[in-house]
Amino acid sequence: MDWRVPLADIDFGAEEEQAVQQVIRGRWLSMGEETQNFEKEFSAFIGAKHAIAVTNATAALHLACLAVGLKLKDEVILPSLTFVATANAVRYTGAIPVFADIESEDCLTISPASIEKHITDKTRAILAMHYAGHACDMTAIMDIARRYDLAVIEDSAHAIGSELDGHKLGTWGQIGCFSFFSNKNMTTGEGGMLTTDDDAMAERLKILRSHGMTSLSWDRHKGHAWSYDVVDLGYNYRIDEMRAALGRVQLRKVSANNQRRAALTALYRELLAELAPEIRMPFAEARGTSCYHILPILLPAGTDRIRFMEAMKARGVQTSIHYPPVHQFQIYRTRARWANGLLPVTEQAAAREVTLPLYPAMQDADVEWVAESVRKALPTL
Ligand SMILES: Cc1ncc(COP(=O)(O)O)c(C=O)c1O
Repeated sequence: MDWRVPLADIDFGAEEEQAVQQVIRGRWLSMGEETQNFEKEFSAFIGAKHAIAVTNATAALHLACLAVGLKLKDEVILPSLTFVATANAVRYTGAIPVFADIESEDCLTISPASIEKHITDKTRAILAMHYAGHACDMTAIMDIARRYDLAVIEDSAHAIGSELDGHKLGTWGQIGCFSFFSNKNMTTGEGGMLTTDDDAMAERLKILRSHGMTSLSWDRHKGHAWSYDVVDLGYNYRIDEMRAALGRVQLRKVSANNQRRAALTALYRELLAELAPEIRMPFAEARGTSCYHILPILLPAGTDRIRFMEAMKARGVQTSIHYPPVHQFQIYRTRARWANGLLPVTEQAAAREVTLPLYPAMQDADVEWVAESVRKALPTL
């Protein structure tokens, strides 16, 4: 479909083409100098001691769950209002995801009070997801983690460049997990990154990323190692050099692009308040500085969401839903503890949520078109 205003768009140009071409001409395609440089540059950007590039954020989340020591039947508290990968990664380790509610319809991130309510003697970790790039209440979450001796993993897939109290998101907990999927604030097509300040954890993550092996092909290519041992049950979650090269170019653009996203979001807020005051636009009160990954709105209660989205489509505006709550998916909802009605704020907000287009190349006129389309797509007041 040829959208007048798509939901998201990439910012790729000549620099990205050149970066990939250079790798191809260099003839070393996986986990070499580009990857090492990408990791160095990303760790400097995030302000973490270590950055470890991987295949995608789902792999990052899986390795993070292993690295904090999750085992069979351990419990991990996380939001249900997230992409399913957040919960699936917990299950890959045999641990059990326990869903907590979100704070409110204005603040769609996990509620510290709800986290505390779900703690049992089996709870080992909290997995916080910075929805749309907006910070979870990390001060309260870290305080709970200290009191109950829990690990904290940040699903920062949405939050590349977001900050809270002078610290980038992804550096508050033990491990941060980032996504470079094609709709993210910077992209390598598929790709992901882990960040941590913990030397031992970084070492374990690197070993788990590549089959549990103690040396890489790159080390052997460089003559640093002749053989290797296998010391852990690892995976192949490596990134390739083409993606790492793309990531380095994209990282140089991400701060300016995040600023443009902030300006577009402010324009949306102004126009929607004027044209469609019955719409709720969450995150009016900023907690830290967001990278404005997506633009969620909540329709008035009782609005037919599918009809609304169809009407937007008729005007060439692509919309989406972030997210159907994970506890309502077939493979999760069969468990009594994840029954409907247990997460009332999540269920009410998720049923009314629609995501509007947001990407750095969007023009002010595009935002105006979308805002007018919202007015026309809503039942008349
Ligand atoms: C919140 C969240 N977590 C995890 C992921 C998984 O990321 P990836 O597609 O890089 O595996 C995504 C991706 O869309 C996401 O939005």
